[in-house]
Amino acid sequence: MKTNSYKRIDAHLSSLGYCSRSESIKFMKMFSVRNKGERIFDPKLKVYHDDITVDNEPLDPEMLVVLLNKPAGFICSHEDAGRLIYSLLPKRWQNRSPKLSTVGRLDVDTTGAILFTDDGALNHRLTSPKHHVSKLYEATLASELRGDEAEIFASGTLMLHGEKKPLLPAKLEVLSPTKVRIELDEGKYHQVKRMFGAVGNRVVSLHRVRFGEYNVEDLESGAYKIV
Ligand code: URA
Repeated sequence: MKTNSYKRIDAHLSSLGYCSRSESIKFMKMFSVRNKGERIFDPKLKVYHDDITVDNEPLDPEMLVVLLNKPAGFICSHEDAGRLIYSLLPKRWQNRSPKLSTVGRLDVDTTGAILFTDDGALNHRLTSPKHHVSKLYEATLASELRGDEAEIFASGTLMLHGEKKPLLPAKLEVLSPTKVRIELDEGKYHQVKRMFGAVGNRVVSLHRVRFGEYNVEDLESGAYKIV
């Protein structure tokens, strides 16, 4: 969403993660912070977001939506032990307030499309089961398909262990006897792995090609872009 808020420069810089409010005087000495082209030094000055540049670059957007092609081995969490997915983003994005959070999660060994946003309403919309956002995965399986999986997944009757309702219909495209594409409109915990577990198979690698309209086919592993 495009916004152009009017507030003190120290508040702008700190909410976007450039520096803390108390560091803003030092930051404005070290970097060329300009308001409509004119260098500024007063942390109390009220400015419009869109009028500001830092070293001739516009400020980061006030609301950020970022698409990352997640490599394996990174955890979708702000605080678990291990390599956190946020460490793949620029340091200042990690210091924003409100915080940048992933839209849903991928397992540590799953690769591919993961979105981040600091827009809580958008995050809710994209993860809410009501909104049926489509996700496309590519999975490699431990055993060859038996042949009835597409029908079972499309049936809308598959019950996973511990769930109260059957899964929504999902589309299976067979690429080879052990490689598939599967499109889901929901995002239950370990859903793809549990679905193949339910038909006697096991997922050995999982890549999310697309989340909603955002696809990572043009992003290298570990690369990201503002969308
Ligand atoms: N389904 C899974 O099993 N794992 C993921 O990371 C995503 C979907």
